[in-house]
Amino acid sequence: MSGHGPAMPMTSQKSGPLRGVAEVPGDKSISHRALILGALSVGETQITGLLEGQDVLDTARAMRAFGATVTQHGPGSWSVTGVGVGGFAEPDGVIDCGNSGTGVRLIMGAMATTDIAATFTGDASLNKRPMGRVTDTLALFGARAFGRRGGRLPLTLIGAAEPVPVEYRLPMPSAQVKSAVLLAGLNAPGQTVVIETEPTRDHTERMLRGFGAEVTVEDTNEGRVITLTGQPELRGQRVAVPRDPSSAAFPVCAALMVPGSEIFVPGVSQNPTRNGIFLTLQDMGADLVLENPREEGGEPVADLRLRASRLKGIEVPPARAASMIDEYPILAALAATADGVTVMRGVKELRVKESDRIDAMARGLEACGVRVEETEDSLSVHGMESVPGGATVQTYLDHRIAMSFLCLGLVSEAPITVDDATPIATSFPVFEALMRGLGAQITRDNR
Ligand code: S3P
Repeated sequence: MSGHGPAMPMTSQKSGPLRGVAEVPGDKSISHRALILGALSVGETQITGLLEGQDVLDTARAMRAFGATVTQHGPGSWSVTGVGVGGFAEPDGVIDCGNSGTGVRLIMGAMATTDIAATFTGDASLNKRPMGRVTDTLALFGARAFGRRGGRLPLTLIGAAEPVPVEYRLPMPSAQVKSAVLLAGLNAPGQTVVIETEPTRDHTERMLRGFGAEVTVEDTNEGRVITLTGQPELRGQRVAVPRDPSSAAFPVCAALMVPGSEIFVPGVSQNPTRNGIFLTLQDMGADLVLENPREEGGEPVADLRLRASRLKGIEVPPARAASMIDEYPILAALAATADGVTVMRGVKELRVKESDRIDAMARGLEACGVRVEETEDSLSVHGMESVPGGATVQTYLDHRIAMSFLCLGLVSEAPITVDDATPIATSFPVFEALMRGLGAQITRDNR
């Protein structure tokens, strides 16, 4: 688990062209949901392509603690025998969700309307993140949370013995909060309604339907209205997890930056609530084409073919923020090598991710000799002909900050070191091997 062991610095340096096929791992969001919905179903769920990153492994362990049988059969191939909606058992010990905000928030939702108690904790990053956005919402169902000041972990959640359904308007664009409400609504009688003004990733809605729940989605003047009919019988399913667009963004952006590169990234989810980064890269002038668009496991996917491109800075449309929220760190790194300024507005949520990502990217880029400007909810990066680099960057237990700077180091004049690469294993355990396979010069520092 990240944050619990010794730090591992890692360095990247100027590399020749990246070439080859980048088979990135399964989608993290869908992997968490497949395990949780499998645990809440009757019968067996068979999953292929599951991301075996630490975040997801922590969720698998948590589902066992709540009474489900979770078995690994081979690489990416898992089964879950569930306990049914409302069937969670009270865990014997503390549920440690490691680095994962998605894991802890979804699991809290999934248990909030069952008459059991559970205590949650995480690593140093997760224990700093706001949980009130979920626990205050789950209180509407009748659940009670006792945590540290500011609703921080560790906290104990006592599920509602007699849950009531909820109508809730999301105060911030958060798929985690939306999903926690929908998962809690599963064991409440009647209809639970969530209204979101900015559409966020919709995997929970899609998958709930796939598992047999009645979920309707309506676009209205007030926003997107999602209605779930409570107390369905969910039935085990086969889930084929598509490859993660958020992980694909790293080799994609690296290959766009390193002159002469040409790579192919097969089977990447193109869900419209997740594909903002690819649209943005195309707006910046990337030679990036989507081939063979198709549907796999209920999600639109496509193969990506791309070549290194001279990019221009743009103003990223703020309306696109939710659909690429996890990709701003790598976009900020890429922007440092583009012509002109890239302006990213409406990104306040970046401040409450695994780290304060606006601050982490701004400080790291400055250390590498790049000019940036930040406000509470924006980051602007001034591109340059050649990024000096030559810095050791702090990553604050944040996998995406670490991977972003390792990608930037492939084109900077002097190498870039990240202080700790261990958190990369939370979402992209094969990052180092995959990037090296493409030709990236990334080395571990044995200090
Ligand atoms: C996720 C939602 C997003 C995202 C996270 C995964 C999910 O978080 O940043 O990596 O799987 O629901 P928020 O809901 O906090 O925006």
